Parts: sequence; structure tokens; C-alpha cells
Amino acid sequence: MSKLSGKTVLLIVGGGVAAYKCLDLVRRLAERGAKTRVVMTAAARQFIAPLAFASLSGEKVYDDLFSLTDETEMGHIELSRSSDLVVVAPATADLIAKAAGGLANDLASTLLIATDKQPIFVPAMNVRMWLNAATARNVAQLRADGCGFLGPVEGEMACGEFGPGRMIEPLEIVAGLERILEQTQPQALLAGPGPLKGKRAIVTAGPTQEPIDPVRYISNKSSGKQGYAIAAALAQAGADVTLVSGPVGLTAPAGVRLSKVETAREMLAAVEAALPADVYVGAAAVADWRVENAGARKTKKGAKGPPQLSLVENPDILSAVGHLPAKRRPALVVGFAAETENLVANARGKLQRKKCDLVVANDVGADNAIFGGDHNTIVIVDARGADAWPALPKREAAQRLARLIATRLEQKR
Ligand code: CTP
Repeated sequence: MSKLSGKTVLLIVGGGVAAYKCLDLVRRLAERGAKTRVVMTAAARQFIAPLAFASLSGEKVYDDLFSLTDETEMGHIELSRSSDLVVVAPATADLIAKAAGGLANDLASTLLIATDKQPIFVPAMNVRMWLNAATARNVAQLRADGCGFLGPVEGEMACGEFGPGRMIEPLEIVAGLERILEQTQPQALLAGPGPLKGKRAIVTAGPTQEPIDPVRYISNKSSGKQGYAIAAALAQAGADVTLVSGPVGLTAPAGVRLSKVETAREMLAAVEAALPADVYVGAAAVADWRVENAGARKTKKGAKGPPQLSLVENPDILSAVGHLPAKRRPALVVGFAAETENLVANARGKLQRKKCDLVVANDVGADNAIFGGDHNTIVIVDARGADAWPALPKREAAQRLARLIATRLEQKR
């Protein structure tokens, strides 16, 4: 039986083309035994007639904050409280902004601040709107307040553009809601801020690229998946996250501030700009060396034979953060160690040399699938000892690390 069976969902429909998908969502919820009460914004009514939702849900559709009839039947406070889940779909940039700012100038936004549940937003908007700094700020704020987000995903938009911002499909929304209800402590998830609320985190991810000339570079195999998953897990736990990323083919997780860099020196500058923070997680595979004599023009093949590259060492970002004066140093500095031999001993060496609180050690020799793969086998090394985790999907490893970070921060208080 679906976890949605017998539940009441308050579905706030925003004004976007994706609103038509919510007709199917109501049907899918009904198939699983859930009752849906629909609230539409004025903009949503431009896309879909309320009658369509009323027919599918078998319930009255609400759209007016000042309706005397509604207030005598079911006031807006009651409407916001009598549901098990509050879902906003499509969550437009406007609705997200209103909710983040606590505005209450129509029924939808009023319900969002009158509810005693943590609303779940299912965003849908143009890629530029989703990537806009104000939207990212608003999403981060809502996450920090404990709200849930499902999607968006990358894809073709109704406006013809391609990128992140596309609403997930009704069946995926239903599966997401079931997952939320399945959490062992649904109340903790739905009714409380995350354990990292109010904490600032900086996560580095991906490789760096060190130019040889304008068209060639030195880099490594890092996919960025583990670092991105950690940024997402910390954000889900309520932290305000800046993700400093080298070049990767991934979309920034919802609610995370993305700072894109190419070289190690740019990464160091971006990390310094993002400080102060409570937590630093150095998951990036920073290139140890850069080319000292990188050419300003493309190097041509010629009689002189292959060019001689002279390498110089890059700054060690993790070590720089670990050695910051106490006032500026994040309370928890987490490093990574990619090793092909003597995993724990080498990780312990890095722990001390780079002055970290924790080192997440991976054996990259035995199983090269770690680079670019979806699983990770981790040993956590710290001053207390070494804790070997089982092989986990990178997303789960990230969630476990986020929980460990929250516990360690709590212990430091
Ligand atoms: N790191 C960093 N800056 C560098 C090199 C590494 O911040 N210039 C960080 C990585 O983000 C990671 C940790 O240091 O958290 C360990 O990286 P790793 O490549 O395993 O270690 P190295 O310092 O390169 O040491 P070695 O080459 O001896 O393995």
C-alpha cells in the first residue's frame, strides 16, 4: 500500500505551463488513495480552468483569500493545517520568492506561511530564472527553513531553451512524496529545520584544469559527483552551501550557491571569497602542479620537437584552510585522500600535515570505478582512529557524511 493512502495533500498550483502536469498529478495521487485539495494562484488560472482540477479532485478548488463563503466553510488557516502534505507545483520563481520572503498577499502565499507543515516545492521555470542569483538565494533560504524540494531536472523547456528548470514528472513527484513520508522520522523532516540550519559550508568539487596553452590543459579524472552529492546533502540538512566547482558536466543541486572555477589558484580565491564558514569540505581533485611556462598562444608542432613543460606546485587549498588562524578557520575542516596504497597511513599523514579534523579516504587503486562511478568505499580517518564504511552509492555516502558533520559540529559547541 502506498504511504500516500488516506493522506490529504494541499496542492498549491502556481502559474506556469507545467500546471497542466498537475492535472495528472491529482489523478496519480487519487490512484494511491490520497485526497487532493487544490489552491490556484491567479496566474495558474490563466493556464488551467479551476473546473478541470475540481472535476479530477472531486473537491472545491480554492483561489480567493477574501472569500466569505470559503471563510465560513473552511477558513484559510484550517485549509493550511488540515492537510498531511503541502506541495507547491509548479513552484514558480515568484511563488518561491514570496515564500522565502514571507509575503502573504494572496491565498497561496498566505497558506504557505500559515501552515504548520514544511512545504515541498516542485520548481518549474526557465533555465535563466532558475540559475538567477535571487532565485538561488530564495531556494537556499527555504531549504534552511526546512522546506523540501523535488527537482527541477535538466531538459527541454516549453520556451525552447535547454537546461535545469524543468519540472519533474507527476509519477516522480508521487514517488518523491512517498519517499518523504517513508522517512523514519517524517515529522523531523516535515516539521523541523535541518540539523545544519544556520551553518555555512564550503564544498569544493571536481578537477581543476591547468592550462598548457589556450587550448590544452593538465587535469585529472574527477567527475565531481561525490562533491556535488555532499553539497546537496549539506543543503538538505539545512546548511547554507557554497559549492566551488572545477569544470564538470553536472548541474548544481537546488539551493546551493555555485562558484565555477578552472584552475587551482582560482579555486583558492573562490574559497577565500566564500569564507567565513563553519564547515569546509575539500572534495575537489586539485591539480598538484601547473605549467609555469604556459603559452599565451597555441603551441605549434615544429622543428624544435615537443615542448618542455616546466611544472610548479599549486597552492594547497585544504592546507591553507586548515592552517587559518582560529578566528577565521572553519570549525570543521574535512579533507579527502585519494590513495593507491597505504590508505589509512597516508590519510593520517594528510590529516596532520593539512591540519584537518577529518579525512575521507578512498582507495582509488583497487577500484578505479570510483572516478566517475556512482559508488564509493570510504574510510573516515581522524584523531580518534579509522572507521571503514561499507561501499555506498555516492548520494548515501554524502548523506552519512552530512550527518557525521552535524554531529561533530554539535560536539564542538
Ligand atoms: N588538495 C588541495 N589543494 C591541492 C591538492 C590537494 O586542497 N593543491 C586537497 C584535496 O581537495 C583533498 C586533499 O587535499 O581534500 C588530498 O588530496 P590528494 O590529491 O589525495 O593529496 P595530495 O595533497 O595531492 O597529496 P599526494 O599527492 O601526496 O597524494
